[in-house]
Amino acid sequence: MSKLFIAGEVFHGAGSLEELKNITGKKAVIVTGGSSMRKSGALDKAVAYLTEAGIETQVFEGVEEDPSSGTCMKGAEVMKTFEPDWVIGLGGCSAIDAAKIMWVFYEYPDADFEAMIKPFTVPVLRKKAKFIAIPSTSGTGTETTGLAVITDREKGVKYPIVSYELTPDIAIVDGEICASMPAHITSNTGLDALTHCVEAYVSNIENNYADVLSKGGLEIVFNNLKEAVNHPDNIKARQNMHDASFMAGLAFNNAWLGIVHSLSHQVGALYGIPHGASNAIFLPNVIRYNALATDRYPDLAKVIGKETAEDLAQAIETLRSEVNNNASLKAFGISKEDWDKNLDYITANALADPCTGFNPRVPSLDELKAIYNACYEGVVYAEEAVAAF
Ligand SMILES: [Fe+2]
Repeated sequence: MSKLFIAGEVFHGAGSLEELKNITGKKAVIVTGGSSMRKSGALDKAVAYLTEAGIETQVFEGVEEDPSSGTCMKGAEVMKTFEPDWVIGLGGCSAIDAAKIMWVFYEYPDADFEAMIKPFTVPVLRKKAKFIAIPSTSGTGTETTGLAVITDREKGVKYPIVSYELTPDIAIVDGEICASMPAHITSNTGLDALTHCVEAYVSNIENNYADVLSKGGLEIVFNNLKEAVNHPDNIKARQNMHDASFMAGLAFNNAWLGIVHSLSHQVGALYGIPHGASNAIFLPNVIRYNALATDRYPDLAKVIGKETAEDLAQAIETLRSEVNNNASLKAFGISKEDWDKNLDYITANALADPCTGFNPRVPSLDELKAIYNACYEGVVYAEEAVAAF
């Protein structure tokens, strides 16, 4: 027996932000990032809709990229004073993920962040508030996942906090909110959504529900990402990408991810490489690595008119280039000396990452190192490279 985990209610389509008018409650804290939601007018609109619903609103602004547990504690303090019955994450995944953990600390001021790193240990939520996610980027699918990624900068580690308690009560998937998203973020977040489709499909707990969402999401990304990058005002393409991101999130919330994410979390924490950008570098080589253990990649290749796992890897490399993403980690300015110095550390952390347990092929430390090195250089992974360690 399995249960399908999905946001409680899902409103989708251009203009669906307006649904906030119909929320019932007394107080809401809106958690958002830098200034993009204020500049685009989405924040003001959200406040106006909530006011129309008779809900008093407080805004917590300034969540940084790759939010820290310290930021989450600050937001929780605001909530403890204001006592909202709704917590609303509005913005990119950083804002929404931070809002999720603020929510935990609001409900449980004495919660132990370190303890929550262990999967499925978040305490039972919704004693004080429920959660609404309104994404402004089309990538993580955090609006329908039980996941929040929090960064410990001192240790250089990203922690995926995993618990179905964190799955939002309401998701609003409004492509209009994405119109202000810069091209490079459209590009790398879209490639993150693509990675979710591929990793969920080949997960070792794959299932029929996640399969159709993965295939559908992958097709939409291949058909719409270039358009969304090149024509940011095309709301149809924006909504399509937003839908694909949600579908991919729903897929992986129910099948989980693999070593692309394990590898990616480490270079994100240590070098600040955008999550989707590093995923897009690892994904083709991880397909090549995993293809020896799963025969499922050709199913995905067929969705885009190709045949083999290698065709799929190459099609992803082509798309990555067409939306102006780097093909190697060294293109981010990491020196070989620095890379070699940190390789053992990041590889050990990647092996220990919770996503590794769902990968279709059980990796060794040396295999992960070989994938890392191929992706650092931007060359094709070959099994023979493992023997070098
Ligand atoms: Fe991701």
